[in-house]
Amino acid sequence: MLAGKRILLTVAGGIAAYKCHDLIRRLRERGAAVRCILTEGGAQFVTALSLQALSEDKVYGDIFSLTDESEMGHIQLSREADLLVVAPATADILAKMAGGLASDLATTVLLATDKPVMVAPAMNVRMWEHAATQANIAMLEARGVIRIGPDEGDMACGEYGMGRMAEPEAIVEAIEDFFGGANRPLAGRRALVTSGPTREPIDPVRYIANHSSGKQGHAIAAALAGLGAETRLVTGPVTLADPAGVEVIHVETARDMLAACEAALPADMAVCAAAVADWRVAEAADEKLKKNGGGPPSLEMIENPDILKSLAGAGNLRPALVVGFAAETENVVANAKKKRKAKGCDWILANDVSRATGTFGGDANTIHLIGAGGSKGGVEDWPRMTKEEVAGRLAERIAEHFGGGS
Ligand code: PMT
Repeated sequence: MLAGKRILLTVAGGIAAYKCHDLIRRLRERGAAVRCILTEGGAQFVTALSLQALSEDKVYGDIFSLTDESEMGHIQLSREADLLVVAPATADILAKMAGGLASDLATTVLLATDKPVMVAPAMNVRMWEHAATQANIAMLEARGVIRIGPDEGDMACGEYGMGRMAEPEAIVEAIEDFFGGANRPLAGRRALVTSGPTREPIDPVRYIANHSSGKQGHAIAAALAGLGAETRLVTGPVTLADPAGVEVIHVETARDMLAACEAALPADMAVCAAAVADWRVAEAADEKLKKNGGGPPSLEMIENPDILKSLAGAGNLRPALVVGFAAETENVVANAKKKRKAKGCDWILANDVSRATGTFGGDANTIHLIGAGGSKGGVEDWPRMTKEEVAGRLAERIAEHFGGGS
């Protein structure tokens, strides 16, 4: 199952670090190549020499080592593995990952990677239960980081509870599941997701946009990638981190978004969650518009390309399943049904974006899924859920649609 797979294992500073010897041995027995990064803390518990002997590869630890950088730059290190595993993942490294710190080689590599990341947390029970750690792990999981453990049991510090690192067998099993096991029904499928707002320029300093945060679209990309789909996310300007294990293409305008989506075809499925500006200024000014006493400028608006409609009408290149969103403020389901027909998509997720709902920019959403079956005339009413839960449920429905895999 793991033959030819390249695992980059970060060993951080916890008593459970000794278990990584067994982990490396088991991974190698299954044919995986293991390369290690040993943090300064990790080196208090295990030696680089032992990791090197077991992995039969160089062990990296110092971001400022010129020799290491000339042999293998830290960016290359972060990109050439198939999966990054952090075991043990201490409270400290999880906090740094959540906060986007790049304070040593391990955290820099974890920030620079575009590959999937798995963490095996290990720490004292109080540290695990602390609101800060829980918020950090929730944030990491929302970004697509895969978590294994921790387990409950006696701890090295004499306390009892959640915080023991998962056993090496369980970590290996999770890694095997990740590479095409039971939990990856979309393995072998390609997904395209749009997310966030677009920005349509008025002049070099002003633009037209909307309140989309990208939370819903990014969560969908992470959920599809989590089920094994090779996922491309085309996103307008957002402040969110790129989801792990997803190829992200950053764009500004609707026209850029359309070009990036067309370049991402063929795909088996497309989910358009972006809040694309329907109109743009016909001729954006090359210089900043001046207040010259003549009153405000009048802007001539023209229609933007419709990305969802273009994907649904892409002929031979049409994804087998095209899913849109309908952002409505009144007659939500009725309007969404019309939109589904007008745009030619298979499913549409209707959501109420009236100001009071907080759907734009918020963390929760209430969805009516239209076109996927459903008992009430093809409409399924979902309860109010977090955007991650909406994404998870949609990804499951898509996996069912494809019959559980390729
Ligand atoms: O980003 P968040 O803050 O998490 O908020 C999530 C969301 C409210 C943006 C999301 O759930 C949502 O509803 N996305 C669609 C927003 C939208 O533009 O809806 P619409 O009804 O105007 O468009 C219908 C569909 O056509 C959408 O799939 C949209 O992506 C697509 N479209 C619209 C116009 C256009 N020019 N090109 C398109 O592809």
